[in-house]
Amino acid sequence: MSGARPSGRTLLFTGKGGVGKTTVAAATALRCAEAGKRTIVLSTDPAHSLSDSLDLALGTRPTPVADGLWGQQLDARERMEEAWGDIQGWLTDVFEWAGVDGIEAEELALLPGLEEVFGLVDIKTYADSGEWDVIVVDCAPTAETIRLLSLPDVLRWYMQRVFPTSRRLHRAVAPVLSRVTSLPVAGDRVFGSAERFYAQLDGVKEVLADTVRTSVRLVVNPEKMVIAEARRTATYLALFGYGVDAVVANRLLPDAVSDPWFDRWKALHAEHLVAIDEGFAPLPVLRSELAGEEVVGLDRLRAFGAALYGEADPSTRLHDGEPMRIMARGDDVELQLDLPFADKDELELGRHGDELLVAVGPYRRAIVLPDSMHRRTVTGAGLRDGHLRVTFGVETPPRPTGARR
Ligand SMILES: Nc1ncnc2c1ncn2[C@@H]1O[C@H](COP(=O)(O)OP(=O)(O)O)[C@@H](O)[C@H]1O
Ligand SMILES: [Mg+2]
Repeated sequence: MSGARPSGRTLLFTGKGGVGKTTVAAATALRCAEAGKRTIVLSTDPAHSLSDSLDLALGTRPTPVADGLWGQQLDARERMEEAWGDIQGWLTDVFEWAGVDGIEAEELALLPGLEEVFGLVDIKTYADSGEWDVIVVDCAPTAETIRLLSLPDVLRWYMQRVFPTSRRLHRAVAPVLSRVTSLPVAGDRVFGSAERFYAQLDGVKEVLADTVRTSVRLVVNPEKMVIAEARRTATYLALFGYGVDAVVANRLLPDAVSDPWFDRWKALHAEHLVAIDEGFAPLPVLRSELAGEEVVGLDRLRAFGAALYGEADPSTRLHDGEPMRIMARGDDVELQLDLPFADKDELELGRHGDELLVAVGPYRRAIVLPDSMHRRTVTGAGLRDGHLRVTFGVETPPRPTGARR
């Protein structure tokens, strides 16, 4: 752990649309606040359902909700326009140069997904500020959340190729380029923005993929399709290094329901619950029953949170475990990556310089290998029981100095 560094705990809630993410996030935040922790609950979902759940209009700045609890609707666009203006201006010039007319170019420069990244930057700012003990994030439905959480990796990868890291080299080249071609060259201001942008992306990734500081919780209902989607989500979150520490099974039929019409439903729920327990083991599965009415307003959220967590402290890490581990195996080094529920057929592996490329279905990640592994070569790989193991063989000796190819 990072010692003196202020470190609020961040809890992200995601799941299929309608399963109860907002409800669980709001109830969790209220329970943390009532346990004496200074808590903020943020929504990245443009549908303003967090306001509806808390029964209180939330602004785009921290809005007081209850003792020790604040809420905020993240306004990613506002933050993006502050931080991204220069780069966007340059991209607009490039597009215009390429023959795309003004308005269209403006829109193109708002690279899809970019806006949301700035929502993530806010989360990081709060996590680092030392002002908050707990930061609860009510995420958008899973597909968008995965896309969002994969962005720091993906964008950094592209940015490093679009903007050469050496600014000095670029300074020398820029005047020449401007002379030989009319293509707009990124100036110092754009570079400054790009560098700040890298730093922010790195920082976001650093906070959210730090399993000590951040936990992701998957909300499900006892339904086949919902569970299937949660399994996919678990795979992709692990691929990008995020730590899932619990599953919330919401809307279970209460025992008190005795009408025989529900017998079949109860049996189905019981079956699905076993599938959730076994499938996601060793993660704890927190349970909450279908309430007799919508869970809206602080009183109902309080009761919901109490039933969900019982004696457990919602802000702590509910399950330990690192999605990625690197360990010595005799002379070899093994990289292990949890990929729960992943299929061999959808997995692709590649090596590119000091990066290990791992693709699962539509998602790919370039894992930057530690220095000590750069000279090693991949000698084997296998996927078993939800773990990918990649073996890196004995180091190739460095080429003697002065040697010719
Ligand atoms: N356990 C529950 N019992 C009764 N109603 C619930 C329960 N969980 C959620 N709801 C209700 O279902 C609706 C959708 O929940 P919400 O938390 O907004 O889902 P999501 O954020 O996943 O889309 C809301 O009206 C909420 O009050
Ligand atoms: Mg919601």
